[in-house]
Amino acid sequence: MKAFRDDVVERLSKASGLAPDVVDRSLGVPDLDRGDFAFPCFPLAKERKAPPPRIAAEIAAKVEVGGRVVRAEAVGPYVNVTVDRARLADETLAEVAARGAAYGSGTEGAGKTVVVDFSSPNVAKPLAFHHLRSTMIGNSLVRLYRARGWRTVGVNHLGDWGTGFGKLLAALELWGDAALASGDPRALNDLYVRINQQAKQDPSLEDRARAWFKRLEDGDPTARALWQRCVALSMVEFSAVYARLGVEFDHVTGESFYEDKMPAMIADLEARGLLEESEGAKVVRVEEPGDEKPMPPCLIVKSDGATLYATRDLAAAQYRHDTFRFDRCLYLVDAGQGMHFEQLKRVLRRAGRPWADALRHVPFGVLLIGGTRARTRSGAVVLLADVLDDAVEKVEAVIREKNPDLADAAAVARAVGVGAVVFSDLKNHRTNDINLDLESVLSFDGKTGPYVMYSHARACSILRKHGAALPPRPADAGARLADPTEQALVRLVARFPDRVARAVETDAPSEVATHLLDLCEAFHAYHTRGGRDAALRVLADDPTVRAARLHLVDAVRTTLAAGLALLGMGAPEQM
Ligand code: ARG
Repeated sequence: MKAFRDDVVERLSKASGLAPDVVDRSLGVPDLDRGDFAFPCFPLAKERKAPPPRIAAEIAAKVEVGGRVVRAEAVGPYVNVTVDRARLADETLAEVAARGAAYGSGTEGAGKTVVVDFSSPNVAKPLAFHHLRSTMIGNSLVRLYRARGWRTVGVNHLGDWGTGFGKLLAALELWGDAALASGDPRALNDLYVRINQQAKQDPSLEDRARAWFKRLEDGDPTARALWQRCVALSMVEFSAVYARLGVEFDHVTGESFYEDKMPAMIADLEARGLLEESEGAKVVRVEEPGDEKPMPPCLIVKSDGATLYATRDLAAAQYRHDTFRFDRCLYLVDAGQGMHFEQLKRVLRRAGRPWADALRHVPFGVLLIGGTRARTRSGAVVLLADVLDDAVEKVEAVIREKNPDLADAAAVARAVGVGAVVFSDLKNHRTNDINLDLESVLSFDGKTGPYVMYSHARACSILRKHGAALPPRPADAGARLADPTEQALVRLVARFPDRVARAVETDAPSEVATHLLDLCEAFHAYHTRGGRDAALRVLADDPTVRAARLHLVDAVRTTLAAGLALLGMGAPEQM
């Protein structure tokens, strides 16, 4: 598709007098029966003070036709351009076959490095359902960036440090470490909740917690050992869920990792004269002229000398810059922390770090299940692991009913159940709030993960039914794929790499997820048409027609598998 697009852009640029990149940015996708590229003439009409349809007619008349471009036509304010679709089909099928699982990848990120800070849950709290978002959007972005040529560094910035641990250690001292021995990370959370409640009546608990945190900071062996056990207990739970989700990190460097790196950052801020006293604390002012909302100063050191989340993030940004020399550093964190990341950038900018602008908060909206974050009775959060269990169990029941002979039903159910949950998140633009209803997410039709996975399995089964190896692609395959249902499919397969690139540009895996849904819909229309008209069956009698159609199905299969992999989902061949 790239060769076609470039060609169309060049011709439209010549015909309109606009720069190629301006044309490129404005190109849209018309309905299939109107063409393959739509060029809107509004901006040009405004500039040239003429009605858009007239401008469109003038440009359409000037577009050179021949070769890859077969028609240019003004329709209202648009110039619709149609390409040689047989040739598009031939070139697309050849490209997909040549690239295989790498279809969709590109090279524009070559030589560049992106750090992706994702998942990053707080230790001693369970991995709740809403952690799915940072974890799986981040996981997908790592895969997407990598596919477009970037070097990727996935970091889990665990919340494993801070005064909260003073409270936890104080609670362990007071109420014993049965919680630790239980092996259940929820028990730690209960302790934490309990001490916070009691501290409301008994302020001495705050002093006790502070003393424990001081011991921890000073390297007291008892404190360190207890803390280490808390972290380890949480990590066991986290790792089990990550394994189910197929998520890996290059570095698990939590907040504690930056403990010895904060003093240098604080000293540097001090030396630059940026640290100011405010009610005993040390802050950096970050308001800027033109701020629409008040921007409070960034708190660096509390009045009791303790550092903060922001202090550790400053040290972490510096460390990542020095270690990885990133071109971009993404933070997959909910939209509620927008101010924190803005402050972070501003402090670094004031502190003379030009790379501050390479930090990018990638926010996302709220994720609820059944309208809540809480488990109904206890009020505790819904665990991510529980939702996955539920999904897998329900999917397994469906699969056993639909396909009782499936050999590895349990493994397929695991992939589909987890994939269903993941897809329900990724198909939404990340900034949207989501309220998930497990039943509909698990449905095998509708805009769901199981539907996409099923479409892939369906393509595999058609290829299996052919009963032999894929025949060679006929030289005139494209000409044999002239039905609109076939052209629509070709076009969606052909546009896939653009959507992957776009997902990286906008840090939005939903670009890929929604494209897969479109592809599945078109594929469904295609492979079911044989039921109405035998001549349109994929497995046609005419060997050349059959071969061309099989190659198209194979390209769909490859594209779906590549897309699912970029979203971090499995693609079972049968289900
Ligand atoms: N642990 C934090 C939280 O749960 C998220 C950390 C995100 N990463 C970062 N570098 N601040 O809210």
